[in-house]
Order: sequence, then structure tokens, then C-alpha cells
Amino acid sequence: MNLTELNRIATAMVAPGKGILAADESSGTIKKRFDAIGVESTEANRRDYREMLFRSTEAMSQYISGVILYDETIWQNAADGTPLVKLIESSGAIPGIKVDEGTQALPMCPGELVTVGLDKLAERLKKYYERGARFAKWRAVIDIGSGIPSMTAISVNAHALARYAALCQAAQIVPIVEPEVLMDGDHDIDRCYEVTQRVLNKTFQELRVQRVALEGMVLKPNMAISGKKCAKQASVEEVAEKTIRLLKACVPAAVPGIAFLSGGQSDEEATAHLNAMHKLGPLPWGLTFSYGRALQAAPQKAWSGKAENVAAGQAAFSHRARMNGLASKGEWQSSLEQKAA
Ligand code: 13P
Repeated sequence: MNLTELNRIATAMVAPGKGILAADESSGTIKKRFDAIGVESTEANRRDYREMLFRSTEAMSQYISGVILYDETIWQNAADGTPLVKLIESSGAIPGIKVDEGTQALPMCPGELVTVGLDKLAERLKKYYERGARFAKWRAVIDIGSGIPSMTAISVNAHALARYAALCQAAQIVPIVEPEVLMDGDHDIDRCYEVTQRVLNKTFQELRVQRVALEGMVLKPNMAISGKKCAKQASVEEVAEKTIRLLKACVPAAVPGIAFLSGGQSDEEATAHLNAMHKLGPLPWGLTFSYGRALQAAPQKAWSGKAENVAAGQAAFSHRARMNGLASKGEWQSSLEQKAA
């Protein structure tokens, strides 16, 4: 393992003004997104859609540090035969790959999940590295509800995240460690804070036990935020203040960067929250976005599967990428959104 090189990549992934495009929807998830815009989820349509994003020159060269790909995409070529990985590299962004294989029911723990995909992971990482991937992602899912999460679910998911992270570093790939506490319930922000604290503490404990070099990883957490169905929604300032307090308490300064998931927040909320956190600096780590939905909802709608809408889709993507790029430096204002509308 070359830790200097892992640290260089991790630092580039969270460079000020830039963040990560999570375009790693599994075939099932992208079908849901395409259903919503009336597009059939064929291999060609998935390729055309992602090619549109990766050819968005302004967004890719100025605001996107890296792209998380799904297995199908990393092997695909653009319509002109150029590998999509090469398109990403030539824009200046770093290609990455989702390597978990989704979730399964966790035995003895009703309603809880464990992320799978460790079998043969070392071999798969070798092939992804040869294809150009320099970082990877593994997502654990923790749900909040009555009597959950159990310590069992937190523990087995943290163990798997650390196993994955150690295998990545041994393969010279920067692991994005993503323990996602879902925002789907009716819980309030303080319950989210308390559960996320337990999850992060357990995750870092496992990372240490399994000798993962903190300098060569990126953390992808949820924010401390009210559940979507909670009657009392915390303000942007409260989300920012509690998220920074939580991360300072749980994430060692040796970690080069933190890149948030959007998790179902609206596009503008996700941007406003990141921006507000940067008003609370200085911060001990790079702090940016690794958004899926909050970067792609607008371009998906603008594109709607039609070749004549490619420029509109790229403009929508560039706008969201620029807004989040500004937020990653605390330089975003809501008036910039209105001007673009
Ligand atoms: P969202 O930003 O849509 O939550 O997706 C990010 C991601 O990669 C989830 O694993």
C-alpha cells in the first residue's frame, strides 16, 4: 500500500470548490428514476444518460472531483466508442466504483439490513483498478424506528465497512466509507444525532481494529437532520450546527475528507446545508458533497430521454454542480438559484 498516493487521491476528492457525483445507481434504482421521467431503462438509455452527464464539460472540469460508477457503467463505452472511464479522466475527474452488492435482511434482527459483497472483493478490486478506478464506495444502511437500530445491526455493518476499506487500501483504492442513517422516519433531529453518533463511533472503532489508514479514506455520512415525517423540521442553521458538532466529536482529523450523501433532501436543501456548515469553520477535514439525487434530479427531468434535450440536461447538471461547488466553499446564496430559474 502506498499511503502517500491514497492520501493524495482522497485529498483531491474533497478539494475546495469540488465534490463527487454519485452516479452509481444499481439497475433497480436507475429504473425507478427513469420510470419517474417516462424513460425505459435499457442498457443504451442508461449509457446515453450517463454519457450526457460525463460530457458536461463545465460541471465535470470545474465542480466535480470524482464520479462513482456502477459495475455496468465502468465497462461501457460512449456512443463514439470511447470508454466512459476515459471521458471522466479526460475531464480531470477521478473515476470510482460502487463495490457493495446491496443489502440483505439481517437474521434475528427484524426490519434491519446488512450490506453484502465481501466475497471475492479482492479480485474485483484488482479488475476495477486496471480499468481506472482509484476510489470505491460501500454503503451500509441503518434505519431508525421503534426499537431499532439494534447494536447488532450497527456492529455487523461497521465490521463489513472496515473489511471493505482494508481490502480497498490493500488494492491501492481509496475507500469511501458510507454508513447511512436513513432520514425516512418520523424521528426528530436529536434522535438522528444520537443514532449517527453510535454508528460513527462503532465504524471508526472497527476501522482502527482492522488497521485501515484514516489518512487514505473518505467518510460519506448523512447529516444530522429531522426525519422526513417528523412534524418539527429543524432549520438549516440547526442542521449545520448539529452536524458539525457531531462530526467533530466522532471523526478524527486524520481523515482527509467528508463528502455527504443527500439522502432524499431537496436539491436546494442539500446545497444550503453544506453551505451553512462552511460558515462554521475552520474545519479539520475537507467537507463537500457526494450527491446522487440532489445532483441528478434536475438533469433527469430536463433530459427526459430525448436526444434534443441533451444540452438542457447538461445545463441543469452544470447549474447544480456549480451551486454545490460554491456551497463547498461557503460561497452559495439562494439568490443564485433564482437567477438561474
Ligand atoms: P443520494 O445523494 O441520492 O442519497 O445518493 C448518494 C449515494 O451514493 C447513496 O449511496
